Amino acid sequence: MSIDARPAPGGAAEEPAPDGVDMDRVGEFAGKVLGIMAAGATTAAIVVGDRLGLYAALAGAGPCSSSELAGATGTAERYVREWLAQQAAMGIVECEPVGGTFSLPAEHAAVLAEDGSPVSMASIALLVTGMHRRTDELVAAFRTGDGIPWGEQDPVTFESTERFFGGQYRGNLVGQWIPALDGMHERLAEGALVADVGCGRGLPLILLAQAYPRSRFVGYDVHGPSIETASRKAADAGVADRVRFEVDHCHGYPAEGYDLITFFDSFHDLGDPVGAAEYARSALAADGTVMLVELLSADTLVDNVAAPGTGLNFAASTFLCTTNSLSQPVGLALGAMAGEKRLREVLGEAGYGQVRRVSETPMNMVLEARP
Ligand SMILES: C[S@@+](CC[C@H](N)C(=O)[O-])C[C@H]1O[C@@H](n2cnc3c(N)ncnc32)[C@H](O)[C@@H]1O
Repeated sequence: MSIDARPAPGGAAEEPAPDGVDMDRVGEFAGKVLGIMAAGATTAAIVVGDRLGLYAALAGAGPCSSSELAGATGTAERYVREWLAQQAAMGIVECEPVGGTFSLPAEHAAVLAEDGSPVSMASIALLVTGMHRRTDELVAAFRTGDGIPWGEQDPVTFESTERFFGGQYRGNLVGQWIPALDGMHERLAEGALVADVGCGRGLPLILLAQAYPRSRFVGYDVHGPSIETASRKAADAGVADRVRFEVDHCHGYPAEGYDLITFFDSFHDLGDPVGAAEYARSALAADGTVMLVELLSADTLVDNVAAPGTGLNFAASTFLCTTNSLSQPVGLALGAMAGEKRLREVLGEAGYGQVRRVSETPMNMVLEARP
């Protein structure tokens, strides 16, 4: 099968263009769409490379043949050869046609072969293929307006969220975001009580428990399998004595007077973020703080759509975030790209008089909210 966006000689492109349609522009756009399709197919190929350890084996190996790569990864050479050709066509690996070898430049390895790297992105490909597996459900949801709970997404979604956001949390949470909150580093070092709402698989609390052994942490989430994974990971990390995870929803967890309540990329997913923020306010200790970690986004649609990478963010928001919010009471559906101004409105409505943006990275913004 071959696909070519160029007009066929003597074919449809030679027929007169419909009035007002610029055929050069049609050709340009068809080329752009072909690139989008190739990128979509490549996300699936990236998942294959990630799962089989092909990128990891290529990283630092220097030029190698398909047989050598297959041998190093225990895979079938004929598949590996075709996969390498696709990766070369997309500019991911470089090929040396004479020797028939392929290599992964170190700069590309940082993005696709190393999960710990701040620019690692293989996990995003997992997220995208998870979205592909839910298109039928989303089509139905568009027709009915009903939501799709987070827990009904493809399981690869939970893994990819943990892996991708994990890089951001490892790189920023302890060193940058906590010290940016007024007095919080000292409070945690002395011994504080922290709740994380919509905790997923629990990595942020595990990182905090490792950094602040005198504090106590509890994560709440409505998704049982994520809570099970989080509990197992806390035990594996040796911090289960000070971190626990429980199934509960954002306005049902015990209001124990928390010094800090966190929402890591979960606030905009909630059906009723105003209610959740009000509940958090009632669950805080005196002088307690709420921290929201949200995607960095602009306040206007025009600015958001013009910014790089937002096509992916809006897709994730459509498939994963808006859907979850619409599956819950109120269904405010802020969307992942709500922007600071809208988040401040929600927090203001929930009774928070002091809201500051305390930190940001190329991907996230961090808001500190106090009553
Ligand atoms: C995008 S994930 C973020 C998970 C985690 N905080 C992280 O950063 O990796 C959003 C999480 O919010 C949880 N969630 C959604 N609605 C919730 C609700 N009403 N109460 C508690 N958790 C909720 C989902 O189950 C999911 O685990």
